[in-house]
Formats: sequence, C-alpha cells, structure tokens
Amino acid sequence: MENRKKVEVCHTPSLYPQYRKENQIVVVIDVLRATSAMCAAFDNGVKKIIPVATIEEARGYQEEGYIVAAERKGQIVEGFNLGNSPYGFMTGEFKDKTIVITTTNGTRAFHTARDADEVVIGSLLNLEALSQWLIEQDKDVLCLASGWKDKFCLEDTICAGAFVDSLIKSGKFTTDEDSSIAAKYLYLSARDNYMAFLKASSHRRRLKALNLNEDIKYCLTPNQTDVIPIRKENYLVLLEK
Ligand code: MLT
Repeated sequence: MENRKKVEVCHTPSLYPQYRKENQIVVVIDVLRATSAMCAAFDNGVKKIIPVATIEEARGYQEEGYIVAAERKGQIVEGFNLGNSPYGFMTGEFKDKTIVITTTNGTRAFHTARDADEVVIGSLLNLEALSQWLIEQDKDVLCLASGWKDKFCLEDTICAGAFVDSLIKSGKFTTDEDSSIAAKYLYLSARDNYMAFLKASSHRRRLKALNLNEDIKYCLTPNQTDVIPIRKENYLVLLEK
C-alpha cells in the first residue's frame, strides 16, 4: 500500500508550483485542441514538434523556413497557414517533418512544466495507451490541465479525471488532492457522452461558433491512437515503445 505512487491533477498552469514534485511525470492536457492536435500530428507521421510560447518566436522559426502552426482565440493567426485543428495535420504532407506550434493555452502549459523530470502529452485520443505507459513507469504523475487563459476548464479536467481513474484502477496509484478527486468524479459523470456533458462548456461554445464542430467531435472521441509524445530537450518526439 505505502509504495503506491501519486496521481494528481493541477487545474491551471498558474497552480503548477503548488503541485510540482521531484521525479514526477507531468501529463500536459489540452483536449480542445492543442494536445489532441499534437497526438494527431504524430499519428500522421510528424517527426518532431517544437512548442513555442509566443507568436514572435513562431515568426522567427517561420523566417528560418520551418513549418509553423499558430493559433490564437481558436483561429489561425494571420500570416500562418496552419492552426490548431487536428485535421490540419492529417493531410499526409507533414510525414517525417518538424512542426513548430504556438497556441493560446496548450503550448503555455508545456512551457510551465519546463522544470519537470519528464513531460508527456495527453488527450482523450491517447488515453488508454498513455495510461498503460504511466502505470508501467513507477513514478508520481501530475496531470496539468491547460485551461483557458489560466481559468479552469471542463474538458481538460474530464480528461485528467480519466487518467486518474485508470491509474487508480491499476492498484498502483493513489491520490491525496481534492482537485484529483473532483476531476475523477467529473470524468465519471461525463464518460458516457462527452459531447452532451460538455455542451455548455466555454471552449466548446467558442469553437462551435467558429464552425469547428468536427474538431470537437474528433477531440472528444477517446482512444483513436496509441502515440505518446514525449519531451526531449525543448521539443516533442514520439516515444519509442
Ligand atoms: C489552446 O491551446 O489554447 C487551444 O488549443 C485553443 C484552440 O482550441 O484552438
């Protein structure tokens, strides 16, 4: 019993310092849509993703000839050809390529966890595969929800709760924090119909207003891939299993 590892949930990037611990694996989650888009990109053959925090950095990479995806307020930023839609990475044209990406919240959360021992990318898309891998690592896990501009968000919380649920079910993990228990209960309430549960959520409404319903459906459909994007230096690669 005493040897069980901890799985916890941090609901926004600014709370991260209160949850960080030595020797912890941080799972960065931005279901709508940054981390779902990253999983989709690797699933479609992308070799490397460089998440950057600002549009200025993204422009710098663009000037050097990199393929750059840039999203703000749910839309492609002017001057860039790619945004944050998972479908944007499914055209087959980015196989074996490096993509630089900046998004409103997801890439910010990635950089927030820069001091973490290990960082992986989680979404509903790779829920089962990533849960299995986390269970095998024998390390504490912190699910870091990207939120929206540092506010709590429902879809990331539900996904974090799904990781908590499967790690606890393995018998190898336990949780101390109310934030993790709350996330788990929200997941249990949502899991039979994510679309319906999230109907009124703020980012779902935001994306729906931009006619991005197909993105929402895709991002809320669990276990479509077994890719695990993992941080190496300041970029992401596919974990070799
Ligand atoms: C983000 O990183 O803030 C989101 O992925 C925004 C979006 O859905 O476009």
